[in-house]
Amino acid sequence: QIVRLADYRPSDFLIETVDLDVNLHPTATRVTARLSIRPNPDGREVAALVLDGEDLNLVSAAIDGGALEADALDVSPERLTIANPPRRPFELTIVTEIDPTANTRLMGLYRSNGAYTTQCEAEGFRRITYFLDRPDVLAVYTTRVEGPKDETPVLLSNGNLAETGEVGDGRHFAVWHDPHPKPSYLFALVAGDLGVVEDRFVTASGRDVALKVFVEHGREDRAAYAMDAIKRSMRWDEEAFGREYDLDVFMVVAVSHFNMGAMENKGLNVFNDKYVLASPETATDGDYANIEAIIAHEYFHNWTGNRITCRDWFQLCLKEGLTVFRDQEFTSDTRSRPVKRIQDVRNLRAAQFAEDSGPLAHPVRPQAYAEINNFYTPTVYEKGAEVIRMLKVLIGPEAFKAGMDLYFDRHDGQACTIEQFIACFAEVSGRDFDQFMLWYHQAGTPSVEVSTAYDAAEKTFTIEATQRVPPTPGQPTKAPAVIPMVVGLIGPDGRDLPLVVGGQPTDAVLALTSATTRVTFEGLKQRPVASLFRNFSAPVKLSADLTDDDYLFLAANDPDPFNRWQAGQTVALRNLVARVAALRTAGATPEEPRIADAVRRAFAPGETDHAFAAQVAALPSEGDVAREIGDDVDPDAIHAARRALKGAIAASLADEIAAAYARLEDTGPYSPDAASAGRRALKVSALDYLAADGGAEGVALAKALFDGATNMTDRIMALQVLSLHAAPDRDAALDAFAASYGSDPLLMDKWLLIQASAPLPDTLDRVRELTRSRYFDSGNPNRVRSLVGAFGANPTQFNRADGAGYAFVAETARALDGRNPQVAARLLGAFKTWRALEPGRRAKAEDALRTLSRAPGLSADVGDIVRRALG
Ligand code: ARG
Ligand code: ZN
Repeated sequence: QIVRLADYRPSDFLIETVDLDVNLHPTATRVTARLSIRPNPDGREVAALVLDGEDLNLVSAAIDGGALEADALDVSPERLTIANPPRRPFELTIVTEIDPTANTRLMGLYRSNGAYTTQCEAEGFRRITYFLDRPDVLAVYTTRVEGPKDETPVLLSNGNLAETGEVGDGRHFAVWHDPHPKPSYLFALVAGDLGVVEDRFVTASGRDVALKVFVEHGREDRAAYAMDAIKRSMRWDEEAFGREYDLDVFMVVAVSHFNMGAMENKGLNVFNDKYVLASPETATDGDYANIEAIIAHEYFHNWTGNRITCRDWFQLCLKEGLTVFRDQEFTSDTRSRPVKRIQDVRNLRAAQFAEDSGPLAHPVRPQAYAEINNFYTPTVYEKGAEVIRMLKVLIGPEAFKAGMDLYFDRHDGQACTIEQFIACFAEVSGRDFDQFMLWYHQAGTPSVEVSTAYDAAEKTFTIEATQRVPPTPGQPTKAPAVIPMVVGLIGPDGRDLPLVVGGQPTDAVLALTSATTRVTFEGLKQRPVASLFRNFSAPVKLSADLTDDDYLFLAANDPDPFNRWQAGQTVALRNLVARVAALRTAGATPEEPRIADAVRRAFAPGETDHAFAAQVAALPSEGDVAREIGDDVDPDAIHAARRALKGAIAASLADEIAAAYARLEDTGPYSPDAASAGRRALKVSALDYLAADGGAEGVALAKALFDGATNMTDRIMALQVLSLHAAPDRDAALDAFAASYGSDPLLMDKWLLIQASAPLPDTLDRVRELTRSRYFDSGNPNRVRSLVGAFGANPTQFNRADGAGYAFVAETARALDGRNPQVAARLLGAFKTWRALEPGRRAKAEDALRTLSRAPGLSADVGDIVRRALG
């Protein structure tokens, strides 16, 4: 059943207050919901009140205290229909019974490891009680939770704690009141025997907020970094966006069974424990960075998502794109802005560009969906953030800030649309955003082709940019988008030249608004080198007529750090594409790896920005090369080409890299700060080059680092390097790791992931074997993602020429579908680029998808992905 944006209409009824009484029981939890309902003046005058429900047992229903007889009710698995509700405000009381233990979908209220947790976004609240489960129905919630004292000493819900007490029989209760009206998807309840870490934060206006992070007992010492990140996020949102916290308590709970990363429930954020728990012995630099970013993301939702929420699920990017933008800015201010930008663009290209070029492409604001859970995508999140970033580039930081202030001011307490958001910026800037809105409507990554011409006699330099937005499923033709292209012209001395057009100094932001845009810059005594799309000013694919020499010049000189990095990547990518072509036609290998110059600088003793240098040293990924090639992709050839280039660079820079590796040695106690993490990243990059050929020397270095590591980052990185090569050292190291950390599931997830990611012919056999090992549990989403999800992202082994990788992932998704459809559907994301493969693999991938599509009883989640993937 398809839901369409065009069919939106306001709810016919509103719910103003919700009084929930949740009486916990492992298999028979009783939920009493007292709802004060009134007809919506903006709705239709209809006969029936239709409430959403899923997997509920209705015990009773009453209006204003009078029980409803069976003939006044229609109960189906998906809804509760009340035939003739009053045409005035009334109170509806519904009693349902649910089984949290049997809830393996992990949506609604579920029980894992003896603790109760909820996940309601997007449509999980209807698994707790019958409700108008849509984001434009905002209510004030009061929640009473009752449970056994021994099993559930901690009883939590949204808002402020109002009351606690005993009820005899070893049971107790807590009442929580959340004064801020909210949609049902932000409801949360947690109950269990949990440890807690506490702190305080005083807001800019003086509100004293209690901060609490709940974790499994014995894990309290791993919550310190998350707590610190909470305080820094709260301060930053006050300073950067003028947003203060608005309750007396802010809580984060770490849970081990969770379908996604984390959830921004009002005042009670629920987290996948892998994004909370960290200690130097157990977490890598990457874990610390993720924890900081995700804590910030969920906290920032308090304003962008909770105070101002979405009118309907088509507007998901209103909260997600904006909140990703905000967390990116937080990290940029906290760590290195250029490095953060580079990492974000790497991820955008790997995940979003890949999605946008295949059968699952959809606009940032989709027009229709069969299953909303399948639209929590890189397009909605990451491209959604890019759209906000472009908006800021186009109108400038002051107007952007004024527009945000207006948005917060005008829409606080409302459920909004993208149009309402954009109208705020139109108003403060006086600009027209009609064309800009195409970024929300049109799927597909625009490509921009740039040609340049220098006229020595006229002293002019002309840039001509032609854009094309490719066809995507359901959108065969596209209109030109408004593309902000930030440019610089660089003189021979490596400095930016003044930009002059028509005799006037001009801004660096060129808005490309038609199919072709031409700009002529004046007053240039020599041919400049153009730096295009500085700081990645638009999410487009650029191809320009610059030579390798131009790019190498930019790699050495561009004042824009992003483009300094990008220039080196572009040269490397060209070289890799040529190598792949040579391999596939048995032609001559392209010559010397000129990219080595940029890599040499990264490892030079004078380079002090190690984090940036590590980005420069890292070659484009196999996915980057595949996307650049576009179609008829042969993953084995790409892998071989990349390996050969890495080896060639390693050979030509052997001494410099070895010296860098020695110099970057870790000394002193571990600290997860950005500078230390950057040094470790560069060191591991050196190790990766030194071990590129799998030769004894490099492997010995990796082994030494693994054995002697004083922190988890080094140990994991060394293990990763060892696992690229089928050496006996690899298995010894894997065994040693399991012996040390076998009782820590989050660490064993890394161990599973490393094995599933190895580019080795026995990887699939090993993954199959690991699904039967005691470190795997198909009921835990983190285990599934670490093993099967990682295998699906393994370029050569998922894409085995015999198709066994496709069959394995499809079959695993099918087997998991009955238990947890959301996680099963996610695994199938591995197929998002199947159509770009060479014909042999494409046929095998299609076979696997078709076989899956014929399986009986597929969930809406999996069915939707398979149908769209097959097109
Ligand atoms: N709102 C959460 C976040 O971005 C993610 C919720 C994901 N929900 C889902 N149904 N996949 O922080
Ligand atoms: Zn979010």
